[in-house]
Amino acid sequence: MSSLNFRLSNPDMRRQQKAATLMTAIAVLGLSYLPLEAQNIIGTLKDASGQPLAGALVKVSSQELGLSFMVVTQGQGRYSTPNLLPGRYIVQGFGSDSQTPPMAPAEVRGSQPTKMDLALSIPLKLAPPRKRMMDADYAKLMPEGPGKNAVASRCATCHSLQWVVSARKTPEKWQETVGRMRDDLQGRDRPLNDILGESDLIQMDTMTEYLSKTFTPDTPLDPRVVEQRLLDVGGPSHPNRNLPGTLLTGAAAKYVAMEFSLPPGSMVHDIAVDSEGIAWVSETNTGGLGRFDPNTLTYTRISAPAAKNPNVQLNSVAVDPNGDVWVVDEGPNARMLQYNPKSREFSSYPIPGYPHAIPPDSTPARLVTLRFLEGNVWATGITANWIVKLDPPTRKTTEYPVPKGSSPYGLAVGGDQRIWYAAEVGNLIGRLDPRTGRLAQYNLTTPKSDVRGMAADAEGNLWVVATEADKLIKVDYRNGTSPSSVFFRQTPGRIQSTWIRNRT
Ligand code: HEC
Repeated sequence: MSSLNFRLSNPDMRRQQKAATLMTAIAVLGLSYLPLEAQNIIGTLKDASGQPLAGALVKVSSQELGLSFMVVTQGQGRYSTPNLLPGRYIVQGFGSDSQTPPMAPAEVRGSQPTKMDLALSIPLKLAPPRKRMMDADYAKLMPEGPGKNAVASRCATCHSLQWVVSARKTPEKWQETVGRMRDDLQGRDRPLNDILGESDLIQMDTMTEYLSKTFTPDTPLDPRVVEQRLLDVGGPSHPNRNLPGTLLTGAAAKYVAMEFSLPPGSMVHDIAVDSEGIAWVSETNTGGLGRFDPNTLTYTRISAPAAKNPNVQLNSVAVDPNGDVWVVDEGPNARMLQYNPKSREFSSYPIPGYPHAIPPDSTPARLVTLRFLEGNVWATGITANWIVKLDPPTRKTTEYPVPKGSSPYGLAVGGDQRIWYAAEVGNLIGRLDPRTGRLAQYNLTTPKSDVRGMAADAEGNLWVVATEADKLIKVDYRNGTSPSSVFFRQTPGRIQSTWIRNRT
């Protein structure tokens, strides 16, 4: 189950925020339009000493409807929610270190606002955030044996050891994976014996043996690893764990947040918002493109067109400047779908296949992020290590390879009208000139910062999420520098030319 969270007040945030919270999800498919008369909850909030409190939070939620709103108290501690669907709502108030005691739900029906005054009379108790495990912690979970130390040190060079301890493979697959990693490590395309001495070869064998014995397809996942993976995607945790510790003031006090739970079983991968405020989400597991209308609070699922293989896996979603919704099907059908919300028709474009052998454990060349520039669709090919351009009228794709081991994830168009991308494993920010195909790379000084999502702001500067480094990086599009210079090594001189392939 998955729910969709976003702020209604800020369009940029709406576009960026992704479905993250797990909660009880109840379908509200096919609800009718919201009533015009006031059908909301209003009241005042006071602190423990009876003083009205502005800048505190009030959350109203209905489990049956899968719906909740959070608003901020204003002058004299007054609050009012947006119009609600009829139902029973739990009302909770939170102000820095105190909260309301449990109360009977408020009933919303008819045309009169429901009045509910609140008092913050008990201490606010939030579970402390769960500890993020580091490589040393993962190493401790690995059973002792020959090869363990080599795996724990070498396999954590480019990415988190979490990737290793959560993989399950046959000996053949481990052999292939270790070979692929070594290939990435050792200057890429040169033959193994050119680079590695005999002792290294023996060590690779020991590592493969250790991995094959330790992480077989039948080895259960350690619950501590599972918990960390859920933490990564914002999984089960206290629903109010991110509440601010102080009272809100200024623009922050105008905040209205809505949380809507999707139908049970829908696994959402990505979200994009169109100019009308409609949220489009990709359901990976159902092959459905979800459409959420925040005015009517209705959610509808549009099925992707049938293809040769029934296994449809929708992932990245983006809305182009004409309002068409693009979504990647990275299942075996390997296609980009363009959906026109007016004609309700889909067009389909194949994802370019790999130039060489497909890594056995991957789905077809995956595209992680979609963006638009001058009528073209641009995408990051994380597994094939290239940036893809699609020209929809001619259906021609062009692939711009990036160095092996980059794993390009996020992508955005900078103020310079160039394509910027975040290389997750390569640990750098890249810039591609769409006219010349030239690449520039800006290395990150924090190792394994795990850069993923990327967006351009109104000035054309780039913002990048560095998941493992717990940082948000801002990059100046004019020179590739970052104000957080400790984090960013400036190497604007490092230009790499690359080859381009065209496909029709
Ligand atoms: C030179 C950098 C580098 C090193 C060192 C490295 N990896 Fe990786 N690893 C990558 C990259 C790049 C990816 C993503 C692309 C891919 O899967 O090839 C990846 C992905 C993975 C994955 C997920 C994909 C899959 O095939 O299941 C696993 C598991 C993995 N690595 C295991 C290992 C192990 C085991 C070692 C040590 C023997 C290791 N890595 C060392 C770069 C590296």
